[in-house]
Amino acid sequence: MLTDGQMKFIFKLFKKTRRVTGEDVRFVGGFVLKSYKDNVSGEFEKAENLYKLTKFCNFSTPHPLECNFSSATIKYSYVPNTQSIREKYIDFMKSEQRNKQCISDFYNAGIALGEIHSNLKLKNFKTWTPDKHFIKFMGRFDHKIMKKLLKSKQVFSHCDYGFSNVHFSEKTEEIVVFDPSSNGFITQSSVLLAPIYLDLANFICNLNGLIPLRMYAGVKWNRMSELKDIFISGYEDSSGNCVDKEVLEAIVYVTARKYFNYKYQSRLLRFVAINALFNFYKGNRIIL
Ligand SMILES: Nc1ncnc2c1ncn2[C@@H]1O[C@H](COP(=O)(O)OP(=O)(O)O)[C@@H](O)[C@H]1O
Ligand SMILES: [Mg+2]
Repeated sequence: MLTDGQMKFIFKLFKKTRRVTGEDVRFVGGFVLKSYKDNVSGEFEKAENLYKLTKFCNFSTPHPLECNFSSATIKYSYVPNTQSIREKYIDFMKSEQRNKQCISDFYNAGIALGEIHSNLKLKNFKTWTPDKHFIKFMGRFDHKIMKKLLKSKQVFSHCDYGFSNVHFSEKTEEIVVFDPSSNGFITQSSVLLAPIYLDLANFICNLNGLIPLRMYAGVKWNRMSELKDIFISGYEDSSGNCVDKEVLEAIVYVTARKYFNYKYQSRLLRFVAINALFNFYKGNRIIL
């Protein structure tokens, strides 16, 4: 077990090589103004279509109110009192007693993703194809898995379905979904027709402990698989899609490798990060 001092040192080291990316989000006059780097019309169509789903689905999302094409910004309604589902994860993974309410929140996060995959439609989109690093990292698994992935069901993806964009509203007790835009490492576009496994793997990377390192102290890792199973059950129940666990595990690994490659320039940090995420101690070591 690492001491707090050692953890802080590692955390600082990681911070130094962090790459700065992302769109600009501003809170102005009770609204949220978000500027985009490209394809603001595609982002607006997607945000509108996602918002339409909230009328009959079990999640909510900010209402895109207007799009300014010249400044490439979209104005959204402000959704008050939300917290990242990461808080629920920390609560569940660290508390003395298993908090059963958290389990149903993760089931609902799976339900929400299944609803998005079943109902989101886009007129203008790109079809996802694996890039050279994706193919390289997949090369460590049996080639049948890549074949299965490419034959698997394709859906319009959220594109960044992870803890920072999946929130929870204490007030409405609903999942609140933010930021259906490219994450820059697995999804290079925001308007993507892609295998179901991309969004699933993104979230499951977080469930494996892709959270700030300073939060690691006191986590009971033997509770992790329960959350993964419940999230997948929610997804399968609402989408009707059957998740192949072998394919999913491979894509989770590849997603994490791609994320660390994108985030850290140092090979050493990438190595440390991937081994901190998947290891024998946590019980989630990937057998290649
Ligand atoms: N409409 C909104 N209402 C309330 N909070 C928001 C809204 N949009 C974004 N946020 C908050 O700002 C954070 C960053 O916004 P997000 O759209 O995810 O942009 P990015 O991750 O690209 O910076 C979100 O995680 C959420 O906490
Ligand atoms: Mg975000």
